[in-house]
Amino acid sequence: MEPIISCDNLVKIYRIAELEVMALQGLDLKVYPQEVMAIIGASGSGKSTLLNILGGLDEPTAGSAVVADWNLSRLTRKQRLIYKRDIVGFVWQNVARNLVPYLTAQENVLVPMILNGQADRAWARELLEAVGLGHRLHHRPLEMSGGEQQRVAIAIALANRPKVLLADEPTGALDTKSSRQVLEVFHDVSHRYGVTIVIVTHDRSMAYAVDRFVEIRDGKTSVETVRRRPLEVGEEVSKDEASHDEYVVLDSAGRLQIPPEYRDALGIKDRLSVEMEDGKIILTPPAASQEEPSSQAT
Ligand SMILES: Nc1ncnc2c1ncn2[C@@H]1O[C@H](COP(=O)(O)OP(=O)(O)OP(=O)(O)O)[C@@H](O)[C@H]1O
Ligand SMILES: [Mg+2]
Repeated sequence: MEPIISCDNLVKIYRIAELEVMALQGLDLKVYPQEVMAIIGASGSGKSTLLNILGGLDEPTAGSAVVADWNLSRLTRKQRLIYKRDIVGFVWQNVARNLVPYLTAQENVLVPMILNGQADRAWARELLEAVGLGHRLHHRPLEMSGGEQQRVAIAIALANRPKVLLADEPTGALDTKSSRQVLEVFHDVSHRYGVTIVIVTHDRSMAYAVDRFVEIRDGKTSVETVRRRPLEVGEEVSKDEASHDEYVVLDSAGRLQIPPEYRDALGIKDRLSVEMEDGKIILTPPAASQEEPSSQAT
């Protein structure tokens, strides 16, 4: 299957005055149609930077990002507007940023359709029913809980039938129960409307509830964890080895990242010997005597 999102050696450098911050350092990522996947990583690792690029809100400095055949490095202003309006939907952590406070839930869902020149009240109602809010059509944001407001936000993001839904810490401000409901809505709308969903989170229990999650470390994808089977509705989220498989990501140039805890445990510095044996690749730290390059070499 062809990926719907493909990032290849993606680099993002922010320049402020004389200072440069390399937020993405050659990141590779593929996401397949109708996946519900998560990106996790420590604060400052580049999660929002990646999502902003995928959402067409920011441009990569180098490398490529392609979403649904749109090359995000080469969009004109006009194309960027169309891309943001028709191809991707966005859900923010800040609940208030997603909704217009003085409009009802249904009116909120109509806003992106009106901007697109086609207000379809029946579709707005269907979307709100799909996110479990058929009984809240005429409530304003202040008359709803945080979790309900985030579910309205999902309906808004789906209003123009995007191919991809991007959510930056959508449950960051919610309690566990509401977070779980929001996650179920993501799964549900993905199945129902065939939309691909990328969720940024630093909550691991959230990550273990999706089909697959990829960890970003220092602006690069490092480890990927895949669920063996989809989570059933209402099932407890478990994080044991029986339910997930963990992989180290190999980048497009064949580079491998060894997790820091392994490097520390074996005292690995900058070299390893590599051997192939019985269909396996064996990496061995050099013996202590060979650890330092010989003095003649320096
Ligand atoms: N607009 C910007 N200008 C300059 N530097 C930025 C900008 N946005 C992000 N950065 C820097 O880029 C790096 C990655 O930031 P990013 O917001 O992507 O991290 P994050 O993984 O989303 O973190 P968090 O979990 O705290 O939201 C950080 O060092 C940050 O300070
Ligand atoms: Mg962020």
